[in-house]
Formats: sequence, structure tokens, C-alpha cells
Amino acid sequence: MSSTPDKYVVFGYPIKHSLSPAIHTLFAEHTEQHIEYDKVQVEGSFYDALRRFIDSGGKGANVTSPFKEDAFAIASELSIRAKTAGAVNTLIFENGRVKGDNTDGIGLVHDLVSQIGSISGLKILIIGAGGAARGVVNPLFDAQVTKIHLANRTPSKAEELTDIFSQYGDIQGGALNEIPLDEQFDIVINSTSSSVLGECPDINPSVFQHAKLVYDMYYHKEDTVFMEFAKSHAPNVQVSDGLGMLIGQAAESFYLWRGVRPELKPVVAKIKAQLV
Ligand code: ATR
Repeated sequence: MSSTPDKYVVFGYPIKHSLSPAIHTLFAEHTEQHIEYDKVQVEGSFYDALRRFIDSGGKGANVTSPFKEDAFAIASELSIRAKTAGAVNTLIFENGRVKGDNTDGIGLVHDLVSQIGSISGLKILIIGAGGAARGVVNPLFDAQVTKIHLANRTPSKAEELTDIFSQYGDIQGGALNEIPLDEQFDIVINSTSSSVLGECPDINPSVFQHAKLVYDMYYHKEDTVFMEFAKSHAPNVQVSDGLGMLIGQAAESFYLWRGVRPELKPVVAKIKAQLV
């Protein structure tokens, strides 16, 4: 083992509450990788912050809100998953080049599969049509889901995403009050940022009726408002927060950098215990 650890960071604003350093430090311990992982709050130019980190010998970085689109624009090479997501959450610095990838969608798919088994053939309802939704549509199609319905408060945004992704699979979109209630969705995913504000999207709770899993991409020590809403209307349905997705996307980034896949379960348990 060399005496100087390889350096990684997560860039964001704000970044104080990021769990990524704790997650990657646990991955490194479990896989015996000699790395150091810090967080960088970007106050000015993202490009300048990135340049400084690369010049200081950084090997790779995660990028979170609001810089995922900047990272997409800066990367000199983009993976297919980054291209379809239109955003980059993982940067790899190699031979003077900056490679951009997006591991958010695969993180979600791994967590869904770990919770309910194969999602092949299932129908998915996604609430929200922002960056978070955009990043997961293609990985869900890659996992062979048969249909995705996107419902958004601003219907035009759902329709825009539907147009972009209709070449990859069966996808429809519209307003929150236009969700086809006879569809029998197997998984309902909240991709909106509403939980951050303690709000809940205004949807008809009968969408939960046939679900195997209701999933909020957000996470918190306690259940989110969306999770509470689902539990109160469908008490027998499995409900989950997005902590597993966060750890899943981190594991995929770690794999891209280090070539080793860390185990997820022990890390989910430890990080859950640290949530405040
Ligand atoms: P990002 O791209 O970072 O995910 P965004 O583009 O602002 O962020 O998207 C946030 C998503 O959460 C959008 O789908 C937004 O709905 P609108 O497009 O109508 O703004 C959704 N959202 C946020 N708060 C919401 C709320 N209280 N109820 C319903 N949807 C909400």
C-alpha cells in the first residue's frame, strides 16, 4: 500500500450534510482500498474548483446538486448513461482526460431489485419530471420494465421527457391529476424534490393500490411525507426511502474508480444509524 492515499471528493452546494464521504470511507475500509474522500462546497466557479482538484492530483469526483449539468458540459468523454441522463454525477480523471458518467439510475435499479427481486416486466409510475426522473428512465428500461408513466405538477415537463425517451420504451406523461388509475402500477416512485420541503405531491392515493413497492428517492431519519401518505392509504404495501439508491450510486462510482464492487447491505445499515 502506498503511503499517499488516492484522493476523491464530492462537489456540491450546499454540501455540509453529504453522506458520500462516510459511504466511500466505509467502502474503502471493507474493500481495503487506500483512498481519501472529502467534500467540497463550491462557492464560485465549478470549473475552477474542479481544475484545482485535478491539479492537486485528484483521481475522481462525485458531483451533486446543482452542478450535475455543469459536469456534463465539462466532461471530455461521456458514457451512454450520462448522455441519456443529460447529467453527470461521477467524474474519472485519466491521462489528462475528464470522463463523465451517471450512476444514479443504476443505483436506483440495484436498490429496487434488492428489495423486490427482478423488475423485468413491471409497470412503473414516476412522480416528477426534473433531473432526478430524467436520470432513471433509461436504466429502468434497461432493466426491462414494460411501461413508465411520468406524472408531473407541470405537465409540459413530463411531456418533454416523454418525447425524449419514447425511442427507448413505452413511456407516457402528463399532469398529476391525469394518472391512468386503471394501469395497476407495480412500483410508484417519487422523484420530486417535494420531500425536501416536507410537502407531498397532490396525487390520487389509489395509484398505490396494486403496488409491490412505493419508493421515495429522498431519505431522512424518519419517514418522508410521501412515505407517510403511501402508508396511510395502502398499509400493506412495502414503502422505502432512497437511502439504498444513494448508496447504490456511490457503489457504482466506487467501482468505476477502483474496479471493486463493495457490498451494500452493511453500509446501508451503518449509514442509516448515522442519519440525524
Ligand atoms: P432537479 O432537476 O434538480 O430534480 P427540478 O427540475 O426543480 O429539480 O425538479 C424538481 C421536481 O420536483 C419537478 O418535477 C417539480 O415539479 P414542477 O416541474 O411542477 O416544478 C417537482 N416538485 C417539487 N415540489 C413539488 C411539490 N410540492 N409537488 C409536486 N411536485 C413537486
